[in-house]
Amino acid sequence: MSGEHAGEASEEFAVAAAHTPGVRAAIARAKLEWEGTVDALPDLICLLDDSGQVLRVNRVCERWNLGSIPEVLGRGLHDVLHANCSADSCELEESLRTGWLSLQGGGPAEFELRDAMLERALHVTLRRMTPGPASTTTEPLAVAVVADVTALHLAREALSTINQELESRVRMRTDALGDANRDLQNEIVRREAAEQALRRSRNELATLSRQLITAQEMERKRIARELHDSVGQQLSAIKYGLERGAALVQQARPHDSQPILQRAIASLQDAMEEIRGIAMNLRPAVLDDLGAASAVSWFCREFAQSYPGLTLREAVAVVDADIPERLSTSVFRSLQELLNNVAKHAQARQVVVSLARSADQLVLEVTDDGVGLEASVSSASMRSGRGMRNLRERAEMTGGQMRLQPGAAGVGTQARIEWQLGPGEARKTA
Ligand SMILES: Nc1ncnc2c1ncn2[C@@H]1O[C@H](COP(=O)(O)OP(=O)(O)O)[C@@H](O)[C@H]1O
Ligand SMILES: [Mg+2]
Ligand SMILES: [Zn+2]
Repeated sequence: MSGEHAGEASEEFAVAAAHTPGVRAAIARAKLEWEGTVDALPDLICLLDDSGQVLRVNRVCERWNLGSIPEVLGRGLHDVLHANCSADSCELEESLRTGWLSLQGGGPAEFELRDAMLERALHVTLRRMTPGPASTTTEPLAVAVVADVTALHLAREALSTINQELESRVRMRTDALGDANRDLQNEIVRREAAEQALRRSRNELATLSRQLITAQEMERKRIARELHDSVGQQLSAIKYGLERGAALVQQARPHDSQPILQRAIASLQDAMEEIRGIAMNLRPAVLDDLGAASAVSWFCREFAQSYPGLTLREAVAVVDADIPERLSTSVFRSLQELLNNVAKHAQARQVVVSLARSADQLVLEVTDDGVGLEASVSSASMRSGRGMRNLRERAEMTGGQMRLQPGAAGVGTQARIEWQLGPGEARKTA
């Protein structure tokens, strides 16, 4: 087998040297050493002649199952590597041909490919050998080194897969962080808005409680003035009358005391009426103790007694439990304002108060047969009170709506307030 591996010596030298046994032995030793070295390499190494056929090959061809060394010799490199290649266009064949051509131009050729037939990744280097001075046609022209780089390819692929995985994980993590960041920003905006709303409602609350205190003070002043102006003066007159009467009795003139005492009694009657009127317009205990329906009936009775010239018809078709607690003050105050307006402005002979509820509405109606809104407003000449405005605002704040219109047949005034009831305010059993 050693004959297949070539020494570097020229033929001339080989012929001359072969005469000396020492030289011959040295050449044989060198050949063996060269073979041992080349066979130990992991790559397939072939020496090719000028037509591209294999002149020498190392034992790697056996390890790669390409055939024994004699079987390989004399064949082209493609034929060696692809023993049964029938592909129309074989990539290896193409690359070898291109490599061989560029070798003719002098330069080395190098390429790498994945070979399906061999199931290996190959790295092929073709290098031209410098011809010796007495070059013959059997001299090798080129050396081909075919390296199996499958492991390298697999490692590269694994690395690229790992890189892709890493990149996609980084992308996912970045996305998640972005989402979290957006959520956080939204939360910050939401909290800031909530804080602002809180601050606003605190301010509103402060304003409201200031207004409440002012309103309370005004109400107290009004009551004090009313007591002083009406009842206070009447009580002074009564005291004077009683003192005069007592003096006349002491002077044994009881007959003269009679008209004076009668006047005092009448004044006392007036003062009692006055006090009843004032008390009626304050918050009655019945509103808290019994409820709005009872308070409405009570107010109608008091009103009828205070204004005997006005006939009041009461049509209260609800019981206390029908009116949600949140509405009881509104219902009572509205009735007060509407009836007082009738007494003050309408010049009516009759007034009808009706309070009724359906599944989702509570309705208060006060209808008089007086002069009507238009007539009274024009004669009142721009003296617009706060009463109606308060009523409207109060209704709107409690989910209600007020409508004013002429009464039946266009006579008088009808005020109607409708409160919308919530689903939790269904009729309770009384
Ligand atoms: N039932 C009514 N009939 C006729 N006019 C009315 C009636 N109710 C209210 N008005 C007119 O509407 C105006 C506004 O009423 P309101 O706001 O309660 O103020 P005030 O009672 O203090 O005058 C009254 O001044 C009056 O001219
Ligand atoms: Mg009024
Ligand atoms: Zn092929």
